[in-house]
Amino acid sequence: MELRTFHHHLLQGFMLLSFISNCCARFVVEKNSLTVTSPEKIKGTHDSAIGNFGIPQYGGSMAGVVVYPKENQKACKSFGDFGISFKSKPGSLPTFVLVDRGDCFFALKVWNVQQAGASAVLVADDIEEALITMDNPEEDSSSAKYIENITIPSALIEKTFGETLKKAISGGDMVNVNLDWREAVPHPDDRVEYELWTNSNDECGVKCDMLMAFVKDFKGAAQILEKGGYTQFTPHYITWYCPQAFTLSRQCKSQCINRGRYCAPDPEQDFSSGYEGKDVVIENLRQLCVFKVANETNRPWVWWDYVTDFQIRCPMKEKKYNKECADVVIKSLGLDAKKIEKCMGDPDADMENPVLKEEQDAQVGKGSRGDVTILPTLVVNNRQYRGKLAKGAVLKAICAGFEETTEPAVCLSGDVETNECLENNGGCWQDKAANLTACRDTFRGRVCECPLVDGVQFKGDGYSHCERENQDFICTD
Ligand SMILES: *[C@@H]1O[C@H](CO)[C@@H](O)[C@H](O)[C@H]1NC(C)=O
Ligand SMILES: *[C@@H]1O[C@H](CO)[C@@H](O)[C@H](O)[C@H]1NC(C)=O
Ligand SMILES: *[C@@H]1O[C@H](CO)[C@@H](O)[C@H](O)[C@H]1NC(C)=O
Repeated sequence: MELRTFHHHLLQGFMLLSFISNCCARFVVEKNSLTVTSPEKIKGTHDSAIGNFGIPQYGGSMAGVVVYPKENQKACKSFGDFGISFKSKPGSLPTFVLVDRGDCFFALKVWNVQQAGASAVLVADDIEEALITMDNPEEDSSSAKYIENITIPSALIEKTFGETLKKAISGGDMVNVNLDWREAVPHPDDRVEYELWTNSNDECGVKCDMLMAFVKDFKGAAQILEKGGYTQFTPHYITWYCPQAFTLSRQCKSQCINRGRYCAPDPEQDFSSGYEGKDVVIENLRQLCVFKVANETNRPWVWWDYVTDFQIRCPMKEKKYNKECADVVIKSLGLDAKKIEKCMGDPDADMENPVLKEEQDAQVGKGSRGDVTILPTLVVNNRQYRGKLAKGAVLKAICAGFEETTEPAVCLSGDVETNECLENNGGCWQDKAANLTACRDTFRGRVCECPLVDGVQFKGDGYSHCERENQDFICTD
């Protein structure tokens, strides 16, 4: 067991390395500008790097007063323990807390500062280096609890700039700054192009759960934006390739399709049971083809329905993560199953798959966008999105991508409604004769839930069947 785990990690390391060394992974830091407006002697604009959590105010800016705490300067402990609060008095400027890098996760620092009532966090680097992105700790369930609740924005600043700020503060100056996200997303025209690098794997822990929750929550807004022609959305999926020398190994055979060309890690990290990496690659490929086929018929938004329905109806836990279940979802959404199968090609063939090849090529960064190596990644107008993957925050970033005055109403009101049940009953269960349907339009897109009729709750999956709980009055066919 130990050895297998070791080999597994080793192999994943190889897959990663072979990808990176092949195309020199480039990671672009999204900068937003930080301007010191007073005191006069340190006035000026500096780069800062947006953190991968919290809610950046895309399209807006925030002015505040910088405070450097006398104790707990790395913010690894709760400020309450030191009797420190950063709550600003009503009517005064928001408080930006300056903290030092080191000793604990970035996200924990930001959480501690938020708990103490501040409005934003500046983390001063502790070494001279180019700015990096502050990321979430990987797969840590204790931090997952607070990361979800981080709402204040944060940014990393360079060591020397941090020292300049500290010196001014300790000298008794009131330091005013302005953190500006208005140029964080390019906004050249009246259509926003955005892409989500995602994964169909529903058993990878905290990150997968967050991604799935986001897709479900964002679906309604995404579909309205797409139907209105305001956005052009493209889903993407990361795959690795198996190094040549390993293509015949058991690991590569179980994790890859097309003879080692396209691989994904084993979902349970266990080769001997459950689903294999290649099952994930195949479902990812199917989802890409669902998008392609839906897009060809000018209904690209059906992808959101497919992926959310697949999550609900075909989970790994219930051993339904397979083609049979996928086909039922495809059919319910009125998609052309033959075309999708043709698009997917033969996973056993010793040749490139054009759809996945295109995805691997797209993983390599171009222009202002770095390589995509982490999941999930959201790219808006070719800029990597930073911040929490949550509906409101993402909508803000997308809305910041429209040329001023061309923003669609959903950006201005946040009022989102869908009318998906009107078309093909939303792919949900229905009983035409009795005029009953499981389709219900909601703020978050349509859901398939068995109806409540005259006080009787119908039971079933909402997709293929619903029936009256009290069976006495049932007539079939
Ligand atoms: C996060 O917020 C939720 C909902 O507001 C709350 O139930 C939960 O306790 C919070 N978690 C932490 C660690 O504060
Ligand atoms: C989707 O369709 C649009 C217009 O028909 C096209 O411009 C775009 O490239 C297509 N996207 C993909 C990923 O095929
Ligand atoms: C079916 O039910 C809906 C709402 O429950 C109603 O608006 C519609 O008129 C009904 N159609 C028929 C044919 O009875």
